Amino acid sequence: SDPDPLQDFCIGDTKSALSVNGFPCKPAANVTSDDFFFDGLSKEGNMSNPFGSSVTSGNVLTFPGLNTLGISMNRVDIGPGGLNPPHSHPRASETGVVINGRILVGFITTGNVFYSKILTPGQMFVIPTGLVHFQMNVGEEKALIFTAFNSHLPGAAVVPTNLFASEPSVPDDVLTKAFQVEKTVIDEIKCKFGA
Ligand code: GLV
Ligand code: MN
Repeated sequence: SDPDPLQDFCIGDTKSALSVNGFPCKPAANVTSDDFFFDGLSKEGNMSNPFGSSVTSGNVLTFPGLNTLGISMNRVDIGPGGLNPPHSHPRASETGVVINGRILVGFITTGNVFYSKILTPGQMFVIPTGLVHFQMNVGEEKALIFTAFNSHLPGAAVVPTNLFASEPSVPDDVLTKAFQVEKTVIDEIKCKFGA
């Protein structure tokens, strides 16, 4: 949930050296129709990765016309058995609609209650702000979802890569204690993420 805009629009100058809460506006004289349209979600993402899924973002960085408007969308492609891994969006609630496939959508509350459902095309879900959630393709076909957010840049903290593939890496002592396992288990997981 971003602050309300103070003008009709403010096409983001995402290359600006100025750092503000959002992006400075491109000069109005240079604004064209193209600034309000984006075809970046039209193509299937590359799912050849360990998770077998791909998130393509239509946020202020890829679609600067969204700057200050408090909204954005993603395209999520998930192959059979693939997973959009557990992650959270610090700055937005998420809603989504399944276009193709059978998807298990789930989230976990701050009180550790797990809510989930298997969805089919046309069905929607909502993920309350900041909560850890995932989508798994539990069908036989490729799955496609479009998601929407009440922020022009929701951010995504992906739990497995956050903890096991950060730069520099989180100390093993922290992870062995947090997960109550031996260092070999932590090493194995870090290794999977190329650490
Ligand atoms: C799905 O959870 C997404 O963040 O697009
Ligand atoms: Mn999400």
